[in-house]
Amino acid sequence: MTNFLFSNVDTVELSTKYGTPLYVVSEDFIVDRCREIKEDYVEKFDNTMAAYASKAFLTKEMARIIKREGLGMDVVSGGELYTAIQVDFPMGKIIFHGNNKTREEIELAVQYGVGRIVVDNFLELKLVEEIAEKYNKKINILFRITPGINSHTHRYIQTGQIDSKFGIPLDKEIIYNSIKIAMNSKYVELKGFHFHIGSQIHENTTHVKAINILMKMAKAAKDDLGFITSELNAGGGYGICYEQNESRKPISYYTDAMMKELIDECEKYELERPMLIIEPGRWIVGEAGITLYTIGSIKEIPGVRTYVGIDGGMPDNPRPALYGAKYEGIIANKIDKEPVQTVTIAGKCCETGDILIWDLKVPQIETGDILAVLSTGAYNYSMASNYNRIPKPAVVMLRKGKDRLIVKRETYDDILKNEI
Ligand code: LLP
Repeated sequence: MTNFLFSNVDTVELSTKYGTPLYVVSEDFIVDRCREIKEDYVEKFDNTMAAYASKAFLTKEMARIIKREGLGMDVVSGGELYTAIQVDFPMGKIIFHGNNKTREEIELAVQYGVGRIVVDNFLELKLVEEIAEKYNKKINILFRITPGINSHTHRYIQTGQIDSKFGIPLDKEIIYNSIKIAMNSKYVELKGFHFHIGSQIHENTTHVKAINILMKMAKAAKDDLGFITSELNAGGGYGICYEQNESRKPISYYTDAMMKELIDECEKYELERPMLIIEPGRWIVGEAGITLYTIGSIKEIPGVRTYVGIDGGMPDNPRPALYGAKYEGIIANKIDKEPVQTVTIAGKCCETGDILIWDLKVPQIETGDILAVLSTGAYNYSMASNYNRIPKPAVVMLRKGKDRLIVKRETYDDILKNEI
């Protein structure tokens, strides 16, 4: 019998060895993506930087891999920053985001000397200045600007439109005021601007448009305020493949187009080309992960539908319930069998919306079969919850055909550990 191999490892054997549900992440895939970014972007153009958006998937081991591959890292909370600190991640390569960073988080970032803080709003500019003064440090900052464009993706993961909780609106007066404060400050060094227009975007045109808009603003800021933009951070959002009709484009599809636009605009406006920074999350880790489940109950409602129950669901993957996200599934121990039926994969939560996959074509299945759900590397483990007091699955990392446990399975006592 042939089983489904992921990253050259037998997934059915993994399910026996570690139990299910199980997150399986391929270091081979991650390293390949990092190297593609290095070769086709960072080393192809000078004055560039790539930072992994750690919100997609972060553990200490993941931070070590990114450190080893030489990329920077985007963190968005004290917890993500703390994880980076724990593995001695080079702090100069950290980009600290967030639309409402707390004083404590900013203190941590300033104390450890993160490379850049992306300032989202006025209050935060004041806080960063005040805390940098307290520690007598000068902190590099970027302003996150909302470019006012819609990306073609789910409403909940669009971030570039005017009506957004993120960033400084594209309003001349507000932006100029912020630039003036920063230019007059002894404690912050404004390097330039950041935008992030959304996630799971398959066209490069929105990123290009955002560059166009921000460079127009950079030109005006130079003429009106004498401000020189030395960095432009284009965020993440590069799409991956979840279903057979989707495909992941190479990173150069996005970065070549953005770089061309940046060079063109700089020539047009007679500006020095700023450093171009990208922050891919999903593109690096999304296809590097799968989740293994064991099939339990099989419930046929005659003439309606067959529900196949699995031992996980929305606590380990909330994306279908949150965004209507679609996934591919494979019966890992029956890959050589023809599909003969269409079933619905139901999670085990007490929640009607906990359906992982609607209408999946599968061979004849039975209780105990192993389901592999593909492309779960991004925003699954990192968004997992303990809803219904379900312990979080273990995480296993694969490298060159070998498996190693990087996060232990939670126990019931782990769930209770902070309770008094
Ligand atoms: N940079 C910034 C400032 C971001 O806000 C994000 C994602 C990224 C980079 C990385 O985006 P990526 O390359 O991974 O698309 N939970 C949602 C996705 C939320 C993304 C939030 N920000 C989902 O599961 O689809």
